[in-house]
Amino acid sequence: MDFPFSLNAIFPPEVGLTLSSSAAHGDVIKVGNDLLPVVFGGGGHSSVVGGCNLQVHLLQQRVSEILDTMGEASASAQGLRQPITSGPKLRMQEGQQVYLLVNRSADGRRGSSVVGMIKVGRKNLFLSNGSGDQVELNPLCVLDIYVHESRQRSGCGKFLFEAMMKDQKVASPRFLAIDRPSPKLVSFLAKHYGLTEKIPQFNNYVIFEGFFTDRPFDASPGPKRTRIYMGKLQHV
Ligand code: ACO
Repeated sequence: MDFPFSLNAIFPPEVGLTLSSSAAHGDVIKVGNDLLPVVFGGGGHSSVVGGCNLQVHLLQQRVSEILDTMGEASASAQGLRQPITSGPKLRMQEGQQVYLLVNRSADGRRGSSVVGMIKVGRKNLFLSNGSGDQVELNPLCVLDIYVHESRQRSGCGKFLFEAMMKDQKVASPRFLAIDRPSPKLVSFLAKHYGLTEKIPQFNNYVIFEGFFTDRPFDASPGPKRTRIYMGKLQHV
């Protein structure tokens, strides 16, 4: 997906925004619900954007445009009337994050493209455990995933998914809840992770056998980090 502005100006390669990188697939960049890219490194990460040359609100505007475009493409690929992902929607959803797969080498420094995205977040869900009980949990959910048609079936989806799981410290994909997976995603989960046996639910979420077994504690997103930003103290 091409954009009429430089992705390398928004996500400068030199400021540590890359969560995962592969010559074949591209760089994975994480965006928080402040619509700013997350800086990795030094053992932790924060969304300080001091290394970016753009003014913050312009950066957020550009990120929002990227999310709008990727969200529309994903909706159209799934035959949905309304996109699940957009800049304004991410902004309103505290605790949701989007991982973007960016191909920096598409055409030198300017014409790079966004290849795919995955949006995740924790949801409070009542889930059936398959033995007749309802359990209230706060699992990490896959809310939207999309890889551009020109790059599907070349491993980009798996690369993005793995980067997300590593960053979110998901021990196994069986611990994830998937929001209304499309047939392609069902096939993807079966192929890469052997997830085929569903535990039937009364909502749109799909979970698989093993979801409840040895489940790690579904912790809240963890302590917030503090940063000084534009002269103000913020918790991110
Ligand atoms: N038909 C059937 N299965 C497919 C297709 C397809 N056209 N494309 C990918 N897959 C599945 C298959 O299992 C495939 O393995 P195979 O080629 O051996 O059959 C496997 O995915 C390929 O793995 P990757 O290359 O790592 O995945 P890809 O980069 O294609 O990304 C994704 C998978 C994200 C599902 C992609 O196909 C896509 O964007 N589809 C359109 C949007 C969509 O359906 N998103 C999921 C919506 S539901 C939700 O987000 C919760």
